[in-house]
Amino acid sequence: MSKIYSTPPTLNRERRFPDNMQAAHALALKAKQGRKGNRTGERYALPAFNVTNIQGINSAFTAFETLGSSGLMAFSNSALKHMGGGDPLFGLEVASDYVARKAARSSVQVATHLDHGDYISEQGRRVVQAAVSALTSVMADNSTDKVNKAGLPLEDNIGYTREVVNMAHPLGVSVEGELGVLAGEEDEDTKSDVSTYTEPDELARFLRETGVLMLAPTIGTMHGANKGRPGHKVKLNIPLAHELLKIADGINDEIIFVAHGASTMYEDVRDYAVEQLEALGAPFDGTAQTWKDFVGTDWEQIKGLIGAGFCKINTDTENRQTFLAALLGAVNKNAAKVDIRWYEKQMWDAVSASYIQKLIMAGNYGVWHEPKIDVEQFVFDLHSV
Ligand code: G3H
Ligand code: ZN
Repeated sequence: MSKIYSTPPTLNRERRFPDNMQAAHALALKAKQGRKGNRTGERYALPAFNVTNIQGINSAFTAFETLGSSGLMAFSNSALKHMGGGDPLFGLEVASDYVARKAARSSVQVATHLDHGDYISEQGRRVVQAAVSALTSVMADNSTDKVNKAGLPLEDNIGYTREVVNMAHPLGVSVEGELGVLAGEEDEDTKSDVSTYTEPDELARFLRETGVLMLAPTIGTMHGANKGRPGHKVKLNIPLAHELLKIADGINDEIIFVAHGASTMYEDVRDYAVEQLEALGAPFDGTAQTWKDFVGTDWEQIKGLIGAGFCKINTDTENRQTFLAALLGAVNKNAAKVDIRWYEKQMWDAVSASYIQKLIMAGNYGVWHEPKIDVEQFVFDLHSV
């Protein structure tokens, strides 16, 4: 990678996306500044929900429209492959077209985001390039060399990320960089055994030379369903998060931090799944224990991160778990129902409820209109979904 000296392009804020669609940065900045309607209040966050198919998109829209929330749907490379019948580029066309059509009929504003876009490999680069044309936000995840499973030198991370900013910012597409290495497994394309905290000394240089307005620092969160030892709370490095925020705000107070691995893994969902497994009986030997051993990131810790400028919080695993728990429940309710739509409805209604719960926890409601439910009274319980 060659050295980068010139000033990076700023985000083109004049770009008009299809109706009711915005760059992720615009929605996240509103959250960081606590703006809802014409009011300015407490800071809130944008949960980024990873979606993998049309029903997932519908489920997310249901949640956003129920609460009048700012919506962010994230697509990983493997999700795009899934949606495109093996071809992530076709998946991108399908996803972006469908979201734009849904958004045009929606009561809220949404953003679409490429999650963990890899600009290092040839194939990954093609997806990032296509995503810059199709989505409103992309992640340039170049902090890890996925082949050698090691951190990429800072110079290279800056160089690759800057190439994405050069392409995306003039088109109004916001770019999320990553600095530090995040451990855990999200899907086949996103896993790492190692983790390192973000170095405060590297932050200013990374932000200045790449020009990104969104950044995922690593402060102790992890991808996947096993973020720590069962029975122990995950501890994030909140003091480091504040130290990093001070540096970032000193450069540009519109910079948004992103928490990856922010799934809290609802205890009630776990209990519901264990209940269903036990009712289903013997063939699931050991599975109930696996469920009991899942460990998410403690919500109090995530709340601490929102205070430190982490206004985009990524949750994927907990929603997958809700889906699976609801599937187990559906089989228990009626294992002879020969109707795909009935099963799908059980699962996706449950996922919508899981999204609603997280949006309420993140304070992201009443942004575009008043919620259609009483948020104080909402109870996320799979028995009653
Ligand atoms: O990019 C997606 C998220 O970082 C997923 O995190 O495994 O805690 O849901 P999670
Ligand atoms: Zn992630």
